[in-house]
Amino acid sequence: MEVDKNGEIASESSSPEEQVVNPWEVSAKDGGKIDYDKLIDQFGCQRLDESLIDRVQRLTSRQPHVFLRRGVFFAHRDFNEVLDAYERGDKFYLYTGRGPSSEALHLGHLIPFMFTKYLQEAFKVPLVIQLTDDEKCMWKNLSVEESQRLARENAKDIIACGFDVTKTFIFSDFDYVGGAFYKNMVKVAKCVTLNKAMGIFGFSGEDHIGKLSFPPVQAVPSFPSSFPHLFPGKDKLRCLIPCAIDQDPYFRMTRDVAPRLGYSKPALIESTFFPALQGENGKMSASDPNSAIYVTDTAKDIKNKINRYAFSGGQDSIEKHREIGANLEVDIPVKYLSFFLEDDAELEHIKKEYGEGRMLTGEVKKRLTEVLTEMVERHRMARAAVTDEMVDAFMAVRPLPNMFE
Ligand code: TYM
Repeated sequence: MEVDKNGEIASESSSPEEQVVNPWEVSAKDGGKIDYDKLIDQFGCQRLDESLIDRVQRLTSRQPHVFLRRGVFFAHRDFNEVLDAYERGDKFYLYTGRGPSSEALHLGHLIPFMFTKYLQEAFKVPLVIQLTDDEKCMWKNLSVEESQRLARENAKDIIACGFDVTKTFIFSDFDYVGGAFYKNMVKVAKCVTLNKAMGIFGFSGEDHIGKLSFPPVQAVPSFPSSFPHLFPGKDKLRCLIPCAIDQDPYFRMTRDVAPRLGYSKPALIESTFFPALQGENGKMSASDPNSAIYVTDTAKDIKNKINRYAFSGGQDSIEKHREIGANLEVDIPVKYLSFFLEDDAELEHIKKEYGEGRMLTGEVKKRLTEVLTEMVERHRMARAAVTDEMVDAFMAVRPLPNMFE
């Protein structure tokens, strides 16, 4: 069974002749690794280079997030323009989202939210978070009620990432679509032909028309006028979207139509994918819970999954390992540590010792188990403290008077 980057059933082969990256499927060429340089060329985005990261440091007066320092967020569209405007004193707003298709998020899903929280704090800007319950109802064949329930459950995990309620509006499409938001959807829809949508999203004549109608829903939170309670009279406010690069097609379409509607194009900052335990060519699979670590996993689950399934670049025998060291290019424990071990010096130390054979896979896996157990436990406690009243507060349609402070 083929599955996409979220561990959900994908419609196409997982080892195509060319790599496939879209909101529903992520498959590397011939079962290899995703070629991110090629994606930048193919999608026409820009590489996030050192000079931009230095600029972020200067403008925010704090150390850039590890996801920036380590190239997890590696591509962008017009992020430089957003920073230019910020430097002149013009703020922006952040927009990100989640398609609530399952009860529990995996660690990959946390990445854009952890990063967005950092951006919100560092730049002191408002944030809108879209829960596309309508999308998942249509793609995953969930009932309307079940999609809505999952949206609220996922909202708790998102809130547990630490967002500031005075600067954050979370909305579900089923609840919020209407009014100014819907007017923008219709304007966008009128600018996109069926041919164009088929080209961007790969829709076919067999897809139901609900799917065809969805892209404008994900497009319009990029426009401040879709939120009259938040941004009245601020039609020129720029929008910055943090996400993994699988969501890029939606925003290629949005950026294409924005000028025709008199709106600014949204800027993007895009990440690579957090890989499956089985390796960067493996897929996180819903039918195989052992392919990913979930925020609901216990300490025992985490330890077992890492020990049993995390693909090792270490050698088969200790003698050989001591002699030639681990292949860090394919090693999942090191890859996972490079996402979640904050201490740069410790990470470098592990890479050196392990890469030169003085450290064994078991020791690296032990350290990874500690790091992830601590992180998941912290998340579990934060989520347990999120009440229904808090969810209501984040999701209330209300002005945010202090959102730029
Ligand atoms: P969804 O629910 O598939 O994914 C939520 C967010 O997580 C990112 N993501 C990953 N990041 C790193 N590694 C992974 N393995 C991984 N898997 C998923 C996704 O890129 C996304 O940022 N249609 C969207 C919901 C949405 C949205 C948005 C996302 C609506 N508006 C604006 C980003 C920005 C979806 O189903 O995301």
